[in-house]
Amino acid sequence: MSKITSDKIKPVRKAVIPVAGWGTRFLPATKAMPKEMLPIVDTPTIQYIVEEAVSSGIEQICLVTSHTKKAIEDHFDRTLELEALLEAGGKTEYLKQIRDIADMVEIVSVRQKVAKGLGHAVLCAKSFVGDEPFAVLLGDDVVYNDGTPCLKQLIDVYNDKGGTVLGVQTVAHENICKYGCVDGDKIGDRLYTVHDMIEKPKPEDAPTDVGVLGRYVITPEIFEKLENTTPGAGGEIQLTDALKALAAEQDMYAYDFVGRRYDVGDRLGFLEATVEYALRRDDLKDDFKAYLKNILTK
Ligand code: G1P
Repeated sequence: MSKITSDKIKPVRKAVIPVAGWGTRFLPATKAMPKEMLPIVDTPTIQYIVEEAVSSGIEQICLVTSHTKKAIEDHFDRTLELEALLEAGGKTEYLKQIRDIADMVEIVSVRQKVAKGLGHAVLCAKSFVGDEPFAVLLGDDVVYNDGTPCLKQLIDVYNDKGGTVLGVQTVAHENICKYGCVDGDKIGDRLYTVHDMIEKPKPEDAPTDVGVLGRYVITPEIFEKLENTTPGAGGEIQLTDALKALAAEQDMYAYDFVGRRYDVGDRLGFLEATVEYALRRDDLKDDFKAYLKNILTK
């Protein structure tokens, strides 16, 4: 197998965030609004993802969008009329907040013109990525860690080992059918080598309960694999299938990242995120905790 040697390890500077999906699990809220703009407390979910990328050292982000997702691009743009209004009203904190969002990082977008699956969405970012390792962050997975961000943990593994690194956690056996499943050998406290992958297996067919949870650092050779990947599970071009083909040629790792992961594309997961993020907020936690205690005792 062609091991990536340390002189071939390049810095991970770019991230791809696919946001073209319809968000059918969250209808009717997502009928006319991108699911990535649904707020956890007062911040759109996509902003948590972008902030994680930036605090992990990412310098450029490519959003893979569709025609219904313009609000996401607008969110990371300047809003001059609003800025003028806030400035005139002396609302300097809000002003700083909205300017910071626009200044956070360089963001470009490409359109995924036809919804052909996650693998196809990542392939749409091929010219943006070029010949560099890159990160992929999925918008449905918000990961809280107040120390080292989830993506940074994967980048640290990449910098040490080279090769693609998948962010994984062990999930309940009956839930492995929701995820890309990883089969491999444990080679460290939280580290596995990846031998095989299956997209959304039935629990009885799953070799392990180790699921990929929306964070990846991937070598650029994936694009050649994606170009040759035929539709798989659900009739879609699956990133998992291309990764499996890549693992046959390059060393690949899975890292059991530290952090609380929320599936914010799911109603219950979204509620959990909302409550837990509110309980972490200094401006809300005391009143909100008192409120929760009060209604739960009724
Ligand atoms: C995608 C991937 C899957 C991964 C999951 C993580 O599935 O295809 O391998 O485990 O994200 O959230 P989706 O949830 O988009 O169907």
